[in-house]
Amino acid sequence: MVAIGIDDIELVATHDVLELAELARVRGVDPAKYEIGLGQTRMSVPAADEDPITMGATAAARLLERTGTDGIRSLLFATETGVDQSKSGGMFIHGLLGLPKAMRVAEIKQACYAGTVALQSALGVIAREPESKVLIVMSDIAKYELEGSGEPTQGAGAVAMLVSANPALVEIEPETGIYSADVDDFWRPNDSTTAVVDGALSLSAYLDTLTGSWDDYQARGGHSVAEIDRFLYHQPFTKMARKGHRELAKHTGTELPEDVLEASFVYNRELGNTYGASIYSALISLMHHDEELAGKRIGFYSYGSGSTGEYFTGVVRDDYRDHIHTEPIQSELAARNVITFDEYVELHERVLPSGVDVENPRVTNAPYRFAGIRGGARQYEANS
Ligand code: CAA
Repeated sequence: MVAIGIDDIELVATHDVLELAELARVRGVDPAKYEIGLGQTRMSVPAADEDPITMGATAAARLLERTGTDGIRSLLFATETGVDQSKSGGMFIHGLLGLPKAMRVAEIKQACYAGTVALQSALGVIAREPESKVLIVMSDIAKYELEGSGEPTQGAGAVAMLVSANPALVEIEPETGIYSADVDDFWRPNDSTTAVVDGALSLSAYLDTLTGSWDDYQARGGHSVAEIDRFLYHQPFTKMARKGHRELAKHTGTELPEDVLEASFVYNRELGNTYGASIYSALISLMHHDEELAGKRIGFYSYGSGSTGEYFTGVVRDDYRDHIHTEPIQSELAARNVITFDEYVELHERVLPSGVDVENPRVTNAPYRFAGIRGGARQYEANS
């Protein structure tokens, strides 16, 4: 059977960043609660002319500069932060990047799990058409109400991924375990820019879905924990991955060292929650910070509130190090514009009025920007 999996992958952040120590200072919280209790240091904040489309287009453009578009016949856009109820965010990206017309484009939604739906769908498409490739873009802005418990777990970012036969990075294995239960742990009503969350319920739903999907994975002939070398978990904040790892150890009656998780935390600590992109930004972080991955099996736990989860595994290709690109994301993270608390609040409260034309200020230096709204339609453009 031909190997199918992740051939290339890219991660982008936003123009602005807020130090969580600054948030803690203003909120009168011990900074150690965020740094140690949640395992987070900073959070990416989109500028006024950035949104999930501009972040996603930037990630996709960076990846396509290396790979070209040959063979790509599908563009799947996975998001919790959709900008339109009908038109796929992928259509805007398709237009901005001038992608070939012979391409299916769609958007997928199930909270933070949508990226994994896109990946699993891509594996199916390529099994039928092994010469074709699927471009997946996962892009999200995690936004909760000011002063709510979720505030320090906000963030933003996008991952672009190319899925193909004979992949250069990670072969995804066929066994997969799934678990769904209708739970009101986290959702975002159509008229709200912020998510509603029941913190305690969200933690238990995450853990129940982990053990549920693990049990299904086992029932379908999945590998034992002893056969898995590295563990990735959806990271709403990095401490949550630790909680997941402890839960899996307890559930399987196994001792699982936690230090193997560290390499997967580096980017999330800086970005905050990136919802659908989070587990794949964790994969990128792992590949950029763990030099011993060749031939290793990675366990993936993908979770989306509401709630669905999936457990599956992938095996890292022997020469993966020849195909990773650490420079763009590392220099981008270092170059972000540090904003004050007041600037953060202003951006947080900025909601575009409906029914009137809007011109966004020119802020981002990313390749694409959200120019504004004209005649009710969102306008995007290449940055000049
Ligand atoms: N020094 C060190 N640690 C400290 C501390 C201090 N001074 N003060 C508190 N802490 C620790 C606490 O002990 C706690 O650690 P443990 O969980 O290991 O016990 C941690 O800091 C957090 O403290 P609280 O539980 O008191 O924090 P909280 O109640 O204010 O909020 C939260 C925590 C519920 C996760 C909240 O941040 C939230 O609602 N976040 C959004 C929801 C979320 O991310 N849920 C995760 C699962 S859902 C999911 O994964 C989908 C998704 O992406 C949203």
